[in-house]
Amino acid sequence: MRALVVRGVGEPPRVEEVELPAPAPGEVRVTVRAAGVCHSDLSMVNGTVAAPYPLALGHEAAGVVTEVGAGVTRVASGEHVVLNWAPPCRRCWYCGRDEPWLCEQGGVPAVPRGRTAAGEPLHVTLGLGALAEEVVVPEAAVIPVPAELPFEAAALLGCAVLTGVGAVRRTAGVARGESVVVVGLGGVGLSVVGAARAAGADPVLAVDVSSTKAKLALAAGATEFLLSDDTLSRAVRERTGRRGVDHAFECVGRGDTIRAAWRATRRGGTVTVVGMGAKDDVVPLSALEIFHSARTLRSSVYGSSDPDRDVPALARSVLDGTLDLAPLITDRTDLDGAAAAFDRMARGEGARTVVVP
Ligand code: APR
Ligand code: ZN
Repeated sequence: MRALVVRGVGEPPRVEEVELPAPAPGEVRVTVRAAGVCHSDLSMVNGTVAAPYPLALGHEAAGVVTEVGAGVTRVASGEHVVLNWAPPCRRCWYCGRDEPWLCEQGGVPAVPRGRTAAGEPLHVTLGLGALAEEVVVPEAAVIPVPAELPFEAAALLGCAVLTGVGAVRRTAGVARGESVVVVGLGGVGLSVVGAARAAGADPVLAVDVSSTKAKLALAAGATEFLLSDDTLSRAVRERTGRRGVDHAFECVGRGDTIRAAWRATRRGGTVTVVGMGAKDDVVPLSALEIFHSARTLRSSVYGSSDPDRDVPALARSVLDGTLDLAPLITDRTDLDGAAAAFDRMARGEGARTVVVP
């Protein structure tokens, strides 16, 4: 089958012919019908996040189960599923506390799952490698969804939407009437914008370095778009009684934008870091300002969600029309066009590209 593979830091991803094993006991084979290109994939291409190579990219996808290994009980062939890049073990201390996003097992075991045409072991992004015609994954990594749910919406539920909606509702608990700023308006940030608006937040200030994001942000529910520059915290203060926002969401994954989000937040407010940044990118915060500002700085991993519970709930919201994912999708392509989506993302253009392999 064909998969989008990157062979080293900074190298352009290319479509390669690769081979996957048959599903072992407890595993399933899924034909991918739609996969989103997420910044975390780009981070493994450009070296922001360390990864083993050759690496099949992609971790935000949906498809149809075509084969099940021995002992699989969760799904049957023909079922539509969303892929989960952090299936919890349900046995560890965190799972026992009902915090499966912090599961000690850390998702699908990071072992190579197939071979390249030359016979090299093929690594797969976050245990999935979903920018491909097929994946073979543990049954815990698939979540059944109704067959009426369009595949492109289903795909986005698996990362950007679960992460963004969860950050607003579960991690931060945004309440009606609270003020929000969202820094970084890709698939994740636009999901945060939409969820904040749906929660009744006002204003919802949407911030990006690229002014082309203004239209997308307003379509997703932002009350105003602001350009990210040195005047940002002043601009945010002017719109929030000189105080700063109740909630800031950082959806870029950079120290300087975490710092900008922090500065835009009021005393006693909360900064939720949603972006995944680099190991050596530090955020300067003085001891005095931490004390005096009384702010909370926290992160949101996978939206503090339980995917097995929250993906089906989000699927119902899409089907009943209360969750509209159309503003997130700006491009559609096939596997051969997927590499270009990485270039667009690196330039800060558009939001999600959905790949139909
Ligand atoms: N200030 C404001 N916005 C910025 C800045 C900055 N200094 N630098 C980049 N951005 C914007 C980009 O212009 C882009 O619109 O951040 C946005 C990031 O969007 P995407 O690249 O589409 O990323 P996305 O997939 O939404 O992921 C965002 O969440 O899951 C993590 O690893 C992921 O860290 C990434 C983040
Ligand atoms: Zn992702």
